[in-house]
Amino acid sequence: MENIIQVKNSVLTNIVTKLRDTNTDSYLFRKYISEAGRILLLEALKDEKPVNKKIKIWVGEYEFPQIEEGKFVFIPIMRAGLPMLDGVFEIMKNAKAGFLAIKRDEKTLKSKLYYDRVPPLDGKTAVILDPMVATGGSLDYAVEVIKKKNPEKIISLNIIGAPEGLKRIAEKHPDIRVYIAQIDERLNDQGYIIPGIGDAGDRAFNTE
Ligand code: PRP
Ligand code: URA
Repeated sequence: MENIIQVKNSVLTNIVTKLRDTNTDSYLFRKYISEAGRILLLEALKDEKPVNKKIKIWVGEYEFPQIEEGKFVFIPIMRAGLPMLDGVFEIMKNAKAGFLAIKRDEKTLKSKLYYDRVPPLDGKTAVILDPMVATGGSLDYAVEVIKKKNPEKIISLNIIGAPEGLKRIAEKHPDIRVYIAQIDERLNDQGYIIPGIGDAGDRAFNTE
């Protein structure tokens, strides 16, 4: 699973523990998800090559390195990926965003697409945001939809994954890079990650 990168960062590990804690209320849960998104993006862009561009400074026009922020399109998977958007925009203010709503059927565990508001992606780097990779069905679906829009590159930022789902993504989409904070033990019979954080969408938006 060479394209699955587990990010080693003790602040991120601490955030995962806060997310697991059932005393973390919905407001804080969203804040931690957002912060995890910010840290994952920093890690994913560590080796991004800046390009030299002229800017006006106090002594005239000079070339300086800049990341081409407009090349990045953040794509949160609704619902649970939404709180990650605030975090990533904090460090990439001129990026764009597109939206996918994908929901898995709790019985069959099959994912269904409800809404696609992702712009054409020619020449862009698509950055998928979703805290959970369980069976991998939703991420697989999102990648399929995004690939049809012809991006230059796809990366996925995820917080907790099960080995089963990550293996599926590694095998089916070796051309994308997945940055993940924590790989947990396994899936249970209902397709939930153990130990995991429970239902991320419900916890983020106070529903059951
Ligand atoms: C959660 C999560 C992922 C998906 C992961 O969303 O945010 O998108 O489950 O499971 P999978 O890897 O088995 O597909 P969910 O379908 O519960 O929708 P929600 O965010 O609206 O609650
Ligand atoms: N979706 C979640 O929100 N949690 C899981 O453990 C699995 C899928």
